[in-house]
Amino acid sequence: MRATASRPTDPDTIESRVSALIAEMSLPEKIGQMTQLNASEGYPPDYLGDRLRAGMVGSVLNQVDVHTVNELQRIAVEESRLGIPLLVGRDVIHGFKTVLPIPIGQAATWNPELVKEGARVAAREAAAAGVNWTFAPMIDISRDPRWGRIAESPGECVLLASRLAVAMVEGFQGEDVSAPDSIAACAKHFAGYGAVESGRDYATTNIPDTKLRNVYLQPFKAAVDAGVMTVMTSFSDLNGVPPTGNEWLLRDVLRDEWGFEGLVVSDWDSVRQLQVHGLTEDDKASASEAAIAGVDMEMAGDAYFNHLATLVEEGTVSIDIIDAAVANILRAKLRLGLFEQPYTKPDDLPAFSNEIALQTAKTTALQSVVLLKNDDGTLPLSSEALSSVALIGPLADAAYEQLGTWIFDGNVDLSVTPLQSIRQLVGDDVDVRYVRAMQNSRSRASAAFDDAVAAAEQSDAAVLFLGEESILSGEAHSRADISLPGDQAELVRRIRQTGKPVVAVILAGRPLTLSNIVDEVDAILYAWHPGTMGGPAIAELLFGIESPSGKLPATFPRVVGQIPIYYSQKNGGKPPTRDTVVHIDEIDTFAPQTSLGMTSFHLDTCFTPLFPFGHGLSYASFEYRGIRVSAGEIRLGSTVTISAELRNAGDTAAEEVVQLYTRDLVASITRPVRELKGFRRVRLEPGETRTVEFELHTDELSFYGRDMKLTVEPGLFHAWIGGSSDTALRTEFRIVDL
Ligand code: BGC
Repeated sequence: MRATASRPTDPDTIESRVSALIAEMSLPEKIGQMTQLNASEGYPPDYLGDRLRAGMVGSVLNQVDVHTVNELQRIAVEESRLGIPLLVGRDVIHGFKTVLPIPIGQAATWNPELVKEGARVAAREAAAAGVNWTFAPMIDISRDPRWGRIAESPGECVLLASRLAVAMVEGFQGEDVSAPDSIAACAKHFAGYGAVESGRDYATTNIPDTKLRNVYLQPFKAAVDAGVMTVMTSFSDLNGVPPTGNEWLLRDVLRDEWGFEGLVVSDWDSVRQLQVHGLTEDDKASASEAAIAGVDMEMAGDAYFNHLATLVEEGTVSIDIIDAAVANILRAKLRLGLFEQPYTKPDDLPAFSNEIALQTAKTTALQSVVLLKNDDGTLPLSSEALSSVALIGPLADAAYEQLGTWIFDGNVDLSVTPLQSIRQLVGDDVDVRYVRAMQNSRSRASAAFDDAVAAAEQSDAAVLFLGEESILSGEAHSRADISLPGDQAELVRRIRQTGKPVVAVILAGRPLTLSNIVDEVDAILYAWHPGTMGGPAIAELLFGIESPSGKLPATFPRVVGQIPIYYSQKNGGKPPTRDTVVHIDEIDTFAPQTSLGMTSFHLDTCFTPLFPFGHGLSYASFEYRGIRVSAGEIRLGSTVTISAELRNAGDTAAEEVVQLYTRDLVASITRPVRELKGFRRVRLEPGETRTVEFELHTDELSFYGRDMKLTVEPGLFHAWIGGSSDTALRTEFRIVDL
């Protein structure tokens, strides 16, 4: 078949149509394209319609009634002078009607293929409502669980975040972004938002350039390489220049270095907020800074609408800047095929929450749950061995809370709760005693604890459903104390005293500090906010129909004071070891002042985290051995194979996420003690042994050095393979420059 030269989405055709349209547009029409309005706002009657008729709106957000969306498109297409269709944006963050686990939960699957499938499900459902642009994926690396938006993030790791960024972009945009069931993706928030000081939302970030490039920018580069159509700027400050006004970031890096040809949108009102940051003196100056910096479209603000024309007439903002921005917007609309098909026909798309959607939500939930601890094989519970179980806690039957943050369109009626699923799973075989015990996770009323204790006493085991309800994470929902809120720890202690096996299932939007309960329970399943199908997934894991296979995408600190604590820290000049650390309780008060270890640690906690990045247990028993490297020396520009044997020594078939880490021992800038370089999910039958291999090209060991250039330096590298970032199974190889 010939190349589709006449296809409306062909690049050459697109460029000529863009130029032709721009040649016809007036300045107000161009500025209109650069404006996005909130279509759910109660404007005066006809305001939105009149603006659309005048060709003065490029995009709307937050309208998902398909008939209304079609009507808005009709006015834009049929009643405006140039008939330019609308981008219709929405935060489709982890599903639309069918809610998948929150993004950090999806990251815990370490399964990009599955995450991509989830994004496809979300795209199909959102497209049926007239949405053609999602503000996802959010790919801000976050190493601070206090930050409420860690719930939306892929976690702390460069490689994992980058792989998931690509998966989500491919899932949302599909193979053909002009297909009716594909939508444009948006990589956000560019850049550095995840590093906000003390995890306070919207706060300042100070990120050295090497760290910005080696860590925070990496997932965005991966998204751009994967063809993401749009990028959103971040609310935060970045080394003194907020991204919405940061020309270096938006033009030098994003466009010139990376070759991004898509559309850059501001975050909600973040153009006007440049003044609040103290970068500009008024809205007019903010519009000027943002346009010059490279923000093509202003979200939900009117600084562009009110001031850009004057700024152009005065010569402050050149018409070339305006034309380039409009071209980026029109290109996105043409690539989406909106000029050919601006209307949505929901009947042509799959039904909401169909079997595929629910199955994808369930599989993702199943693979997202992390078994943090499991003393003496407490889990799985056996419906044959148990005659009764007590299900206790505020999140056992909380259909809304299990969906998590950012669920504008999620259908809570579809949620299946753990209580419902466990009852259904065990039927008449096991007596289920349910006591909610607390109104919500924050409650400080313990009056119902006696009932919970009684239920536990009368049962063979107690399963506690604890954590945070959805409002405690997400945007502007940061916490300073990230332990279990309310009186939950007290509830755990009371149940512990019954002497019954105690299992904690934790539903939360972030890693919590669990030090005060970890020894009070026999097993912990960490379920994040697992979405619509969280109940069946949790029930099947509890009763061993499936084995847990999630792995932590973020380190779990023991106490807040350890933050930031993450696996890819630098070594420092005085790294701690078990022999050098001293605990505050061990200091001899009467002895003369002596040195206390003289290494890098806190006196009042351990120097390791409670659970490391990559950690996650299984009902199988996985044993790693025999790490091998294909050559002790490899040349720059070549590939090395690193492998290890994995054996399932247990009696359950299960999946394991095998992880490869490396360390560059000597470099011109100091490098992390470990970096994830590969991972693979494998399924092993009981007794099965498999050799798991990773191919590593020397380019994958590159980093931005002192001169901000990407470089691979010859020298010695350590490599580890294992089931978490603290694996000890190590080999080494040397890169030589011959
Ligand atoms: C958030 C963005 C979101 C936008 C639109 C902002 O407050 O930071 O992530 O896409 O609102 O809802």
